[in-house]
Amino acid sequence: MVREQIHALSLKGLHDLSDLRFLLSLEDPDEIRYLAELASNVKNEHLSNKVHLRGLIEFSNLCSKDCLYCGIRKSNKKPLRFQLRQQEIIDAATFAFNNRYGSIVLQSGERSDREFTGFVCDVVRNIKSVTDGKLGITLSCGEQTRETYRNFFKAGAHRYLLRIETSDRELYSKLHPNNAHHSFETRLRCLEWLKETGYQVGTGVMVGLPFQTIDHLAADLLFIKSLDADMVGLGPYIEHSQTPLFKQREFLWPEQFRLSMTLKMIAILRIMMKDINIASATALQAIDGFGREKALKFGANIIMPSLTPKEHRKEYLLYEDKPCLDEDREECRACLEMRVKMVGDEIEYNSWGDSPHYTYRNL
Ligand code: 5AD
Repeated sequence: MVREQIHALSLKGLHDLSDLRFLLSLEDPDEIRYLAELASNVKNEHLSNKVHLRGLIEFSNLCSKDCLYCGIRKSNKKPLRFQLRQQEIIDAATFAFNNRYGSIVLQSGERSDREFTGFVCDVVRNIKSVTDGKLGITLSCGEQTRETYRNFFKAGAHRYLLRIETSDRELYSKLHPNNAHHSFETRLRCLEWLKETGYQVGTGVMVGLPFQTIDHLAADLLFIKSLDADMVGLGPYIEHSQTPLFKQREFLWPEQFRLSMTLKMIAILRIMMKDINIASATALQAIDGFGREKALKFGANIIMPSLTPKEHRKEYLLYEDKPCLDEDREECRACLEMRVKMVGDEIEYNSWGDSPHYTYRNL
């Protein structure tokens, strides 16, 4: 009975909050498995069983922001602040290129000073040049001016990730300091600028935040759809003891519930937006050793193996219990290959893995 209802909704298209609320509230394991099966079918039909890799280079944890949930927020004095040297970043990118990853993500804390934005442009330009323009580059460096986004794009970045974190203004204000440097409006404006610049744009939310409800998550799905995002990265919120939001931990959903809610979000999104790229967030693996593989089964098609030098990984903890802190790049690559095969998917090497959604959007 419920299975038929799920099936009918998936065919009808998911535009109503009440339908999304219904799907997000599923708790019976058989029903959730059925939802995953539908999402998997959509993925196979529109994108085949190919998984694309994005080598993740977390190149700096210096941050001017003070987001209340994030372990590298400016006011946290614990992490040793670092910025990789140009050559270290190029070495990591070269590893990705030589291992046929096709694409990398350069991620950092948020800074908007000229020294930083100029550095990012140089790095992007140099990576493009040493790889003959063949390595795809995604940036994830937070809110910037329209001009900076244009400069990054001109330098050779073609995708940009900027999570909205939550699409609910009021909840956003509970997760960020109440000042102009942490404004929901600015975040929205940045997403618009990224689109108009010509990037493939990615956004996403955290799932299981304090004060967050199923209604918020249903609205998040509609927000992502209305933004017409090309890529989505969404993962469970994981509390960090050196952040102000840690105080609210007693109000959190249990971790397993956050995990299954994240998986349901991924499956529903795959049914709603059939041809976008959906990343299987590393945070999933912090809760469940096979969290990322489960996400593939629920419709995700992107995995981001870490290429951050081992000695800096422990200083880039956005959340605690981050997995694979002591694995080197080579181990990480071999382990992934095996894990992806295990769920019946296949890694597509040597390709940028652009979302068909972006291609059609620009025809
Ligand atoms: N738990 C899970 N995800 C987090 N992020 C930041 N802090 C946490 C946390 N405590 C996510 C945010 C950000 C992305 C880079 O990492 O969504 O956009």
